[in-house]
Amino acid sequence: MDKKSPPVCNYEGSDYQQSFWDMGGRAYEDAAEAIALKRLLPSGGKFMLELGAGAGRNTPRYQQYGRVALVDYSRTQLEQARDRLGESGRYVFVAADVYHLPFVANRFDGATMIRTLHHMADPNLALGETARVIAHQGVFILEFANKRNLKSMLRHLLGKQSWSPYTQEPVEFATLNFDFHPQAVRQYLRRAGFEIEKQLTVSHFRVGFLKRWVPTGVLVMLDSLLQWTGRWIQVSPSVFTRCVAKKESQAAPDDALFQCPVCGTRLSGMGKDLTCESCGRVWEYSDGIYDFRISPPNEA
Ligand SMILES: C[S@@+](CC[C@H](N)C(=O)[O-])C[C@H]1O[C@@H](n2cnc3c(N)ncnc32)[C@H](O)[C@@H]1O
Ligand SMILES: [Zn+2]
Repeated sequence: MDKKSPPVCNYEGSDYQQSFWDMGGRAYEDAAEAIALKRLLPSGGKFMLELGAGAGRNTPRYQQYGRVALVDYSRTQLEQARDRLGESGRYVFVAADVYHLPFVANRFDGATMIRTLHHMADPNLALGETARVIAHQGVFILEFANKRNLKSMLRHLLGKQSWSPYTQEPVEFATLNFDFHPQAVRQYLRRAGFEIEKQLTVSHFRVGFLKRWVPTGVLVMLDSLLQWTGRWIQVSPSVFTRCVAKKESQAAPDDALFQCPVCGTRLSGMGKDLTCESCGRVWEYSDGIYDFRISPPNEA
């Protein structure tokens, strides 16, 4: 691995989908995110890229796209996604690093990154690489964890939190877990070449006692009403942003998909190991998953 490449948060072998979502009491957050996505997704598209797809929790929400490429650094998360979604021509499962995407430039007409910027030590690099593979006018939906949320502002005011929610730098509250300032994220996006179209604030009521005492449906309805306020102010723990890529270059031809993540040479073929003609690396394909990780961690 390139020495300068940022570290990756390792989900290999993690039961994140079961423990955090299925059994974790997060029906409210999941439903609030589904509403935000519905509001932001375009009505149709050809080929979408889902970055940090995890176990594919959101993938069924992308029906308006003809195909979806799911990227995650963890092969075991992708195995869960594959088992949940099934193997078909509609899905391409790709183990890869957001910082080194194995796709040709301008390939996708849409992309999402949900709960994944959260793990990016270098958000500019991650969003720059994302922008590279999205074609002109492609729609990118980014979710990020907001450091300037009501709870953190209150804790700061009461002296219970040393870091300021108001400053632009990300806060790493646990190793490789970052919350971002909304204004800083808008800057990263513009720097990467995106034009911001809409912002929705999400999960306003992510508070233990509210979730215990107020019916989930009521919280979801109230959240749905408040999401529109994200256009003016963002003080919820989660923010969804819809952007459009602005490019001079043409969309990639339909038959081009992969490139070597090490040297950038285009790779041809699908459904088999792919050998790079320039640097000689062999990128494995097995059990329906392409593996483009430059130095994969030990599988759990
Ligand atoms: C919190 S989970 C979110 C999964 C899914 N988007 C969801 O909302 O259910 C974050 C995911 O990002 C992946 N991830 C973290 N860093 C990554 C990187 N550098 N490249 C690719 N995937 C990464 C992890 O493996 C994990 O599956
Ligand atoms: Zn190569």
